[in-house]
Amino acid sequence: MTAEFTTVAQVADIKPGELRCVRFGTRRVALANVDGEIFAIDDTCTHEEASLSEGELFGDVVECPLHGAAFNVRTGAVESFPATRAVRTYAVRIVDGAVQLSEQSASGAA
Ligand code: FES
Repeated sequence: MTAEFTTVAQVADIKPGELRCVRFGTRRVALANVDGEIFAIDDTCTHEEASLSEGELFGDVVECPLHGAAFNVRTGAVESFPATRAVRTYAVRIVDGAVQLSEQSASGAA
């Protein structure tokens, strides 16, 4: 099956070490630039209602601005409490400087 990809941003808009919230269909997705590589996770923390793109990026780990839970932006895995559920990841590809996402999880799982 071929995944469909949608352009959501330009790579140039997200500098290394930065986060940015974008719309992807009805979802809010946080894009993270880790040393020039772009990763995409759900923007909403799995603990409560907080926007992860308003948090801080430390390497490939984003820290939630509300209570400090941390998630790995490559895998969505929880790195620190109080969150206990992973955030969803999205497959990312770069085409001519455009960041494109697909519904497919970055890990290949649905
Ligand atoms: S809302 Fe993110 S840690 Fe509580």
